[in-house]
Amino acid sequence: MAGQSAAIIESKDAYFSYSGDGEPSPALSGINFSVKRGEYVALIGPNGSGKTTLLKLFNALLIPSNGEVLVKGISTTEEDKLPEVRRSCGMIFQNPDNQLVATTVEEDLAFGLENLALPVSVIRKRVKATAALLGLEMLLKQPPHLLSGGEKQRVAIAGVLAMEPDCILMDEPTAMLDPAGRHSVLNTVHALNRNRGIAVIHVTHFPEEAALAGRVLALNEGRVVADGAAKKVLTDLDLLHKIGLQGTTAGELAALLRLGGCPLPSHILNNRELVDNICTLAQNN
Ligand SMILES: Nc1ncnc2c1ncn2[C@@H]1O[C@H](COP(=O)(O)OP(=O)(O)OP(=O)(O)O)[C@@H](O)[C@H]1O
Ligand SMILES: [Mg+2]
Repeated sequence: MAGQSAAIIESKDAYFSYSGDGEPSPALSGINFSVKRGEYVALIGPNGSGKTTLLKLFNALLIPSNGEVLVKGISTTEEDKLPEVRRSCGMIFQNPDNQLVATTVEEDLAFGLENLALPVSVIRKRVKATAALLGLEMLLKQPPHLLSGGEKQRVAIAGVLAMEPDCILMDEPTAMLDPAGRHSVLNTVHALNRNRGIAVIHVTHFPEEAALAGRVLALNEGRVVADGAAKKVLTDLDLLHKIGLQGTTAGELAALLRLGGCPLPSHILNNRELVDNICTLAQNN
């Protein structure tokens, strides 16, 4: 039965071409991938590798030209089930301005719920609870366009969250934010993932953000070229460099130090690990 599927999202040999089946190189070619409840997946790849297209397939904004995408066991081709698919897999875009539609934050948070035709009392309760969760209580009466980028992105996340999704799809959600705004949005999403079991697929060009995910999926030219633990995929610098990406700053620096003769392990991913390993070497010499 559809609802009993263990995976929230399944992509079965999915292809997508923007200009019809005759296109010599489709945007996506034969994507096999599934995401379970509670997973946090970073989606990486160079410009034009198909990351945004893949998220749009998961949200049924696009339908595969070949193959199939299932959300909680429901094929995205089932038009009468699209509202359920979109409610289950909410999407956050790079620019929150494209996503905020109402004249106040409060109305914005209620917007999707009103479309679900929920009773007013339920809508009020959910808006209040979501605003509290994301620290937006003081901003409820504000017009969204007067908020900072980080605040707007938190409102966009709250709008998706109010729909009680099983999965949040995020397309470079921190690209326009300063370090504090980025930190706040990342903390919020990781806490939702940890505490509520909401699956997250997070497209990012920041290796440090990808390193925080449990799993990393790398795309190149519309194909999956790596899928595994962040520690494994992001320390495979040969693969990353081959497709025009970089590892984390700590990982790249560790590789340079190794080349220079410093016996550091090859699995270093973050600053803490780099510092700890260098200190251990220094103490032993
Ligand atoms: N609306 C469109 N019409 C035609 N081709 C498109 C369209 N959107 C994307 N493409 C093409 O599909 C391919 C994948 O694009 P996509 O936007 O999914 O890449 P991306 O990995 O998200 O890139 P970026 O890192 O730049 O955001 C690219 O070759 C792109 O030129
Ligand atoms: Mg993109």
